[in-house]
Amino acid sequence: MRLLLTGANGQLGRHLQPRLAELGELITTGLGAESRPCDLTDPEALDRLLREVRPDILVNPAAWTAVDAAEDEADAARRLNEWLPAQLAHWCVRNDALLIHYSTDYVFSGRPRSAWTEEDAPAPASVYGRTKLAGERAIRESGARAIILRTAWLYSCLPGNFLSAIIGRAARGEALRVVSDQVGSPTWAGSLAEMTKAVLQSGTMTTDSRILHAVNRGQMSWHEFAQLAVTMAVERGLIERPVEIEPISSAQWPQRAERPRWSVLEPGALERLVDHPVPSVEQALTQCMNEWKARTC
Ligand SMILES: NC(=O)c1ccc[n+]([C@@H]2O[C@H](COP(=O)([O-])OP(=O)(O)OC[C@H]3O[C@@H](n4cnc5c(N)ncnc54)[C@H](OP(=O)(O)O)[C@@H]3O)[C@@H](O)[C@H]2O)c1
Repeated sequence: MRLLLTGANGQLGRHLQPRLAELGELITTGLGAESRPCDLTDPEALDRLLREVRPDILVNPAAWTAVDAAEDEADAARRLNEWLPAQLAHWCVRNDALLIHYSTDYVFSGRPRSAWTEEDAPAPASVYGRTKLAGERAIRESGARAIILRTAWLYSCLPGNFLSAIIGRAARGEALRVVSDQVGSPTWAGSLAEMTKAVLQSGTMTTDSRILHAVNRGQMSWHEFAQLAVTMAVERGLIERPVEIEPISSAQWPQRAERPRWSVLEPGALERLVDHPVPSVEQALTQCMNEWKARTC
Protein backbone atom coordinates (compact mmCIF):
# COMPACT_ATOMS: atom_id res chain seq x y z
CA MET A 1 0.00 0.00 0.00
CA ARG A 2 1.40 3.40 -1.01
CA LEU A 3 0.62 6.51 1.02
CA LEU A 4 1.30 10.12 -0.02
CA LEU A 5 1.59 12.64 2.83
CA THR A 6 1.31 16.35 2.03
CA GLY A 7 2.50 19.07 4.43
CA ALA A 8 4.97 16.51 5.72
CA ASN A 9 7.18 19.12 7.33
CA GLY A 10 4.33 20.88 9.14
CA GLN A 11 3.32 20.33 12.77
CA LEU A 12 0.91 17.46 12.13
CA GLY A 13 2.87 16.14 9.14
CA ARG A 14 5.97 15.59 11.27
CA HIS A 15 3.92 13.61 13.80
CA LEU A 16 2.22 11.62 11.04
CA GLN A 17 5.42 10.56 9.28
CA PRO A 18 6.58 7.78 11.67
CA ARG A 19 3.03 6.47 12.21
CA LEU A 20 2.10 6.31 8.53
CA ALA A 21 5.44 4.70 7.66
CA GLU A 22 4.25 1.69 9.71
CA LEU A 23 1.30 1.21 7.36
CA GLY A 24 3.02 0.97 4.00
CA GLU A 25 5.33 2.74 1.58
CA LEU A 26 5.28 6.40 2.61
CA ILE A 27 6.06 9.20 0.17
CA THR A 28 6.21 12.73 1.59
CA THR A 29 5.63 16.04 -0.14
CA GLY A 30 5.71 19.70 0.76
CA LEU A 31 7.51 22.89 -0.14
CA GLY A 32 10.89 21.97 1.33
CA ALA A 33 12.98 18.98 2.29
CA GLU A 34 10.41 16.23 1.78
CA SER A 35 11.06 13.26 -0.52
CA ARG A 36 9.00 14.81 -3.37
CA PRO A 37 9.04 18.64 -3.03
CA CYS A 38 6.03 20.25 -4.75
CA ASP A 39 4.11 23.52 -4.62
CA LEU A 40 0.66 22.00 -4.22
CA THR A 41 -1.02 25.16 -5.52
CA ASP A 42 0.63 24.64 -8.93
CA PRO A 43 -1.88 22.57 -10.97
CA GLU A 44 0.72 21.07 -13.33
CA ALA A 45 3.16 20.17 -10.55
CA LEU A 46 0.34 18.61 -8.52
CA ASP A 47 -0.91 16.61 -11.47
CA ARG A 48 2.62 15.36 -12.24
CA LEU A 49 3.20 14.39 -8.59
CA LEU A 50 -0.03 12.38 -8.38
CA ARG A 51 0.55 10.67 -11.74
CA GLU A 52 4.06 9.63 -10.70
CA VAL A 53 3.30 8.55 -7.12
CA ARG A 54 -0.15 7.00 -7.70
CA PRO A 55 -0.98 6.66 -3.98
CA ASP A 56 -3.62 4.29 -2.63
CA ILE A 57 -4.13 6.68 0.29
CA LEU A 58 -3.64 10.46 0.21
CA VAL A 59 -3.19 12.10 3.63
CA ASN A 60 -3.56 15.87 3.43
CA PRO A 61 -2.62 18.05 6.39
CA ALA A 62 -1.25 20.76 4.04
CA ALA A 63 -3.28 23.90 4.51
CA TRP A 64 -3.25 27.66 4.89
CA THR A 65 -3.16 27.81 8.70
CA ALA A 66 -2.37 31.51 9.32
CA VAL A 67 -5.80 32.39 10.70
CA ASP A 68 -5.35 36.16 10.98
CA ALA A 69 -3.42 36.58 7.70
CA ALA A 70 -6.27 34.78 5.89
CA GLU A 71 -8.50 37.80 6.53
CA ASP A 72 -6.32 39.81 4.10
CA GLU A 73 -5.18 36.96 1.85
CA ALA A 74 -8.44 35.16 1.20
CA ASP A 75 -7.49 34.01 -2.32
CA ALA A 76 -4.28 32.38 -1.17
CA ALA A 77 -6.09 30.73 1.75
CA ARG A 78 -8.84 29.48 -0.58
CA ARG A 79 -6.27 27.98 -2.95
CA LEU A 80 -4.85 25.71 -0.24
CA ASN A 81 -7.98 25.13 1.84
CA GLU A 82 -10.60 24.73 -0.90
CA TRP A 83 -9.02 24.30 -4.34
CA LEU A 84 -6.34 21.80 -3.20
CA PRO A 85 -8.67 19.38 -1.33
CA ALA A 86 -11.10 19.57 -4.26
CA GLN A 87 -8.32 18.56 -6.69
CA LEU A 88 -7.14 15.76 -4.41
CA ALA A 89 -10.71 14.48 -4.01
CA HIS A 90 -11.34 14.43 -7.77
CA TRP A 91 -8.07 12.57 -8.32
CA CYS A 92 -9.15 10.04 -5.66
CA VAL A 93 -12.48 9.49 -7.45
CA ARG A 94 -10.75 8.86 -10.79
CA ASN A 95 -8.14 6.55 -9.25
CA ASP A 96 -10.18 4.82 -6.53
CA ALA A 97 -7.91 6.16 -3.79
CA LEU A 98 -8.86 7.09 -0.22
CA LEU A 99 -8.46 10.70 0.98
CA ILE A 100 -7.75 11.60 4.61
CA HIS A 101 -8.21 15.35 5.09
CA TYR A 102 -8.11 17.68 8.12
CA SER A 103 -10.53 20.44 9.01
CA THR A 104 -11.11 22.69 11.97
CA ASP A 105 -13.31 23.67 14.91
CA TYR A 106 -13.32 27.17 13.35
CA VAL A 107 -16.14 26.00 11.05
CA PHE A 108 -18.35 26.58 14.11
CA SER A 109 -19.47 29.68 15.99
CA GLY A 110 -22.02 30.32 18.69
CA ARG A 111 -22.50 28.42 21.90
CA PRO A 112 -24.49 25.17 22.09
CA ARG A 113 -25.15 23.56 25.47
CA SER A 114 -22.67 20.79 24.82
CA ALA A 115 -19.71 19.80 22.67
CA TRP A 116 -20.18 20.23 18.90
CA THR A 117 -21.07 17.00 17.11
CA GLU A 118 -20.73 16.14 13.42
CA GLU A 119 -24.48 16.78 13.04
CA ASP A 120 -24.28 20.42 14.20
CA ALA A 121 -24.58 23.08 11.52
CA PRO A 122 -21.34 24.94 10.76
CA ALA A 123 -21.32 28.76 10.80
CA PRO A 124 -17.73 29.96 10.38
CA ALA A 125 -16.96 33.50 11.56
CA SER A 126 -13.56 33.92 9.85
CA VAL A 127 -12.12 33.68 6.34
CA TYR A 128 -10.00 30.73 7.51
CA GLY A 129 -13.10 28.93 8.83
CA ARG A 130 -15.04 29.64 5.62
CA THR A 131 -12.24 28.36 3.38
CA LYS A 132 -11.88 25.18 5.46
CA LEU A 133 -15.64 24.58 5.33
CA ALA A 134 -15.57 25.11 1.55
CA GLY A 135 -12.83 22.46 1.39
CA GLU A 136 -14.98 20.00 3.36
CA ARG A 137 -17.91 20.63 1.03
CA ALA A 138 -15.82 20.26 -2.12
CA ILE A 139 -14.66 16.84 -0.92
CA ARG A 140 -18.17 15.74 -0.02
CA GLU A 141 -19.57 16.90 -3.38
CA SER A 142 -16.80 15.12 -5.34
CA GLY A 143 -18.08 11.68 -4.35
CA ALA A 144 -14.60 10.65 -3.19
CA ARG A 145 -14.00 8.00 -0.55
CA ALA A 146 -12.81 10.38 2.12
CA ILE A 147 -12.52 10.85 5.85
CA ILE A 148 -12.43 14.45 7.04
CA LEU A 149 -10.95 14.72 10.52
CA ARG A 150 -12.01 17.96 12.20
CA THR A 151 -9.52 18.88 14.88
CA ALA A 152 -8.94 21.82 17.23
CA TRP A 153 -6.26 23.85 19.00
CA LEU A 154 -3.42 21.69 17.70
CA TYR A 155 -0.18 21.90 19.69
CA SER A 156 3.17 20.16 20.05
CA CYS A 157 6.70 20.83 21.25
CA LEU A 158 7.64 22.06 17.77
CA PRO A 159 8.05 25.83 17.33
CA GLY A 160 5.14 27.93 16.09
CA ASN A 161 2.16 26.88 18.22
CA PHE A 162 0.49 28.03 21.45
CA LEU A 163 2.19 25.50 23.74
CA SER A 164 5.74 26.10 22.57
CA ALA A 165 5.18 29.88 22.64
CA ILE A 166 3.90 29.74 26.24
CA ILE A 167 6.71 27.49 27.45
CA GLY A 168 9.30 29.62 25.64
CA ARG A 169 8.12 32.81 27.33
CA ALA A 170 7.79 31.17 30.73
CA ALA A 171 11.33 29.82 30.36
CA ARG A 172 12.53 33.40 29.90
CA GLY A 173 10.67 34.35 33.09
CA GLU A 174 8.15 36.55 31.27
CA ALA A 175 4.74 37.04 32.93
CA LEU A 176 1.90 35.90 30.66
CA ARG A 177 -1.54 37.25 29.79
CA VAL A 178 -3.79 34.53 28.35
CA VAL A 179 -7.39 34.60 27.12
CA SER A 180 -9.82 32.87 29.50
CA ASP A 181 -13.14 33.31 27.67
CA GLN A 182 -12.41 30.99 24.74
CA VAL A 183 -12.96 27.33 25.61
CA GLY A 184 -11.90 24.45 23.36
CA SER A 185 -10.42 20.98 23.05
CA PRO A 186 -6.63 21.40 22.92
CA THR A 187 -5.29 18.49 20.85
CA TRP A 188 -1.74 17.15 20.75
CA ALA A 189 -0.47 16.57 17.22
CA GLY A 190 0.85 13.17 18.40
CA SER A 191 -2.66 12.13 19.49
CA LEU A 192 -4.15 13.25 16.18
CA ALA A 193 -1.50 11.30 14.29
CA GLU A 194 -2.36 8.20 16.37
CA MET A 195 -6.09 8.75 15.69
CA THR A 196 -5.34 8.97 11.97
CA LYS A 197 -3.44 5.70 12.07
CA ALA A 198 -6.23 4.04 14.08
CA VAL A 199 -8.84 5.18 11.54
CA LEU A 200 -6.76 3.72 8.71
CA GLN A 201 -6.25 0.48 10.66
CA SER A 202 -9.95 0.18 11.51
CA GLY A 203 -10.48 -1.27 8.07
CA THR A 204 -13.09 1.33 7.24
CA MET A 205 -13.22 1.29 3.49
CA THR A 206 -15.78 4.01 3.14
CA THR A 207 -17.78 4.14 -0.05
CA ASP A 208 -18.29 7.89 0.30
CA SER A 209 -17.09 10.71 2.56
CA ARG A 210 -17.47 11.05 6.29
CA ILE A 211 -16.68 13.80 8.81
CA LEU A 212 -15.30 12.80 12.22
CA HIS A 213 -14.33 15.02 15.14
CA ALA A 214 -10.74 14.10 16.05
CA VAL A 215 -9.71 15.83 19.28
CA ASN A 216 -8.49 14.98 22.73
CA ARG A 217 -11.52 14.53 24.97
CA GLY A 218 -12.40 17.38 27.29
CA GLN A 219 -12.42 21.14 27.45
CA MET A 220 -10.23 23.95 28.71
CA SER A 221 -9.83 27.67 28.23
CA TRP A 222 -6.54 28.90 26.76
CA HIS A 223 -5.76 30.23 30.25
CA GLU A 224 -6.40 26.87 31.97
CA PHE A 225 -4.33 25.13 29.32
CA ALA A 226 -1.41 27.56 29.79
CA GLN A 227 -1.53 27.09 33.58
CA LEU A 228 -1.46 23.32 33.31
CA ALA A 229 1.32 23.39 30.69
CA VAL A 230 3.54 25.66 32.80
CA THR A 231 2.94 23.51 35.91
CA MET A 232 3.91 20.36 33.98
CA ALA A 233 6.97 22.08 32.51
CA VAL A 234 8.16 23.10 36.00
CA GLU A 235 7.58 19.55 37.32
CA ARG A 236 9.76 18.17 34.53
CA GLY A 237 12.52 20.77 34.92
CA LEU A 238 11.83 22.22 31.45
CA ILE A 239 11.51 25.66 33.04
CA GLU A 240 12.97 26.79 36.34
CA ARG A 241 9.99 28.28 38.13
CA PRO A 242 6.31 29.09 37.53
CA VAL A 243 5.38 32.51 36.12
CA GLU A 244 2.30 34.59 36.73
CA ILE A 245 -0.43 33.92 34.15
CA GLU A 246 -3.06 36.65 34.09
CA PRO A 247 -6.49 35.66 32.73
CA ILE A 248 -7.75 38.21 30.21
CA SER A 249 -10.81 38.53 27.95
CA SER A 250 -10.76 38.20 24.15
CA ALA A 251 -11.47 41.95 24.02
CA GLN A 252 -8.16 42.55 25.80
CA TRP A 253 -6.32 40.51 23.13
CA PRO A 254 -7.67 41.83 19.85
CA GLN A 255 -6.95 39.63 16.85
CA ARG A 256 -7.65 40.20 13.15
CA ALA A 257 -9.89 37.12 12.80
CA GLU A 258 -12.80 36.34 15.08
CA ARG A 259 -12.35 33.12 17.10
CA PRO A 260 -15.19 30.91 18.37
CA ARG A 261 -15.74 31.33 22.12
CA TRP A 262 -16.87 27.69 22.33
CA SER A 263 -14.69 25.27 20.35
CA VAL A 264 -15.26 21.99 22.19
CA LEU A 265 -15.68 19.03 19.81
CA GLU A 266 -17.26 15.66 20.68
CA PRO A 267 -15.01 12.75 19.55
CA GLY A 268 -17.50 9.93 20.32
CA ALA A 269 -18.13 8.94 16.69
CA LEU A 270 -14.40 8.46 16.10
CA GLU A 271 -14.07 6.47 19.34
CA ARG A 272 -16.84 4.12 18.19
CA LEU A 273 -15.22 3.69 14.78
CA VAL A 274 -11.78 2.79 16.14
CA ASP A 275 -13.30 0.99 19.16
CA HIS A 276 -10.98 2.84 21.52
CA PRO A 277 -11.28 5.95 23.74
CA VAL A 278 -9.24 8.98 22.67
CA PRO A 279 -6.84 10.35 25.33
CA SER A 280 -8.18 13.19 27.47
CA VAL A 281 -6.77 16.70 27.11
CA GLU A 282 -4.81 16.17 30.36
CA GLN A 283 -3.44 12.73 29.31
CA ALA A 284 -2.32 14.05 25.93
CA LEU A 285 -0.58 17.10 27.40
CA THR A 286 1.20 14.82 29.89
CA GLN A 287 2.41 12.61 27.03
CA CYS A 288 3.57 15.60 25.00
CA MET A 289 5.48 17.09 27.97
CA ASN A 290 7.07 13.70 28.76
CA GLU A 291 8.25 13.40 25.16
CA TRP A 292 9.46 17.01 25.31
CA LYS A 293 11.54 16.21 28.40
CA ALA A 294 12.88 13.01 26.82
CA ARG A 295 13.53 15.02 23.63
CA THR A 296 11.72 12.40 21.57
CA CYS A 297 8.98 14.64 20.22
N1 LIG B 1 -2.83 24.34 13.99
C1 LIG B 1 -4.04 24.29 14.56
O1 LIG B 1 -4.28 24.79 15.67
C2 LIG B 1 -5.18 23.62 13.84
C3 LIG B 1 -6.45 23.62 14.42
C4 LIG B 1 -7.51 23.00 13.74
C5 LIG B 1 -7.27 22.40 12.51
N2 LIG B 1 -6.03 22.43 11.96
C6 LIG B 1 -5.83 21.78 10.66
O2 LIG B 1 -4.91 20.71 10.84
C7 LIG B 1 -4.10 20.55 9.67
C8 LIG B 1 -2.63 20.53 10.05
O3 LIG B 1 -2.28 21.75 10.71
P1 LIG B 1 -0.77 22.06 11.14
O4 LIG B 1 -0.82 22.80 12.42
O5 LIG B 1 0.07 20.84 11.02
O6 LIG B 1 -0.37 23.09 9.99
P2 LIG B 1 1.08 23.62 9.56
O7 LIG B 1 2.11 23.26 10.59
O8 LIG B 1 0.90 25.07 9.22
O9 LIG B 1 1.40 22.78 8.26
C9 LIG B 1 0.85 23.10 7.02
C10 LIG B 1 1.73 22.50 5.96
O10 LIG B 1 1.26 22.89 4.67
C11 LIG B 1 2.38 23.09 3.85
N3 LIG B 1 2.11 24.00 2.74
C12 LIG B 1 1.66 25.27 2.80
N4 LIG B 1 1.58 25.80 1.57
C13 LIG B 1 1.98 24.82 0.71
C14 LIG B 1 2.12 24.74 -0.70
N5 LIG B 1 1.79 25.77 -1.50
N6 LIG B 1 2.58 23.59 -1.24
C15 LIG B 1 2.91 22.54 -0.45
N7 LIG B 1 2.79 22.55 0.89
C16 LIG B 1 2.33 23.68 1.46
C17 LIG B 1 3.40 23.72 4.76
O11 LIG B 1 4.68 23.57 4.20
P3 LIG B 1 5.99 24.30 4.84
O12 LIG B 1 6.24 23.55 6.13
O13 LIG B 1 7.04 24.07 3.84
O14 LIG B 1 5.60 25.73 5.03
C18 LIG B 1 3.20 22.92 6.04
O15 LIG B 1 4.03 21.79 6.05
C19 LIG B 1 -4.53 21.68 8.73
O16 LIG B 1 -5.49 21.20 7.82
C20 LIG B 1 -5.18 22.70 9.63
O17 LIG B 1 -6.15 23.49 8.96
C21 LIG B 1 -4.98 23.01 12.60
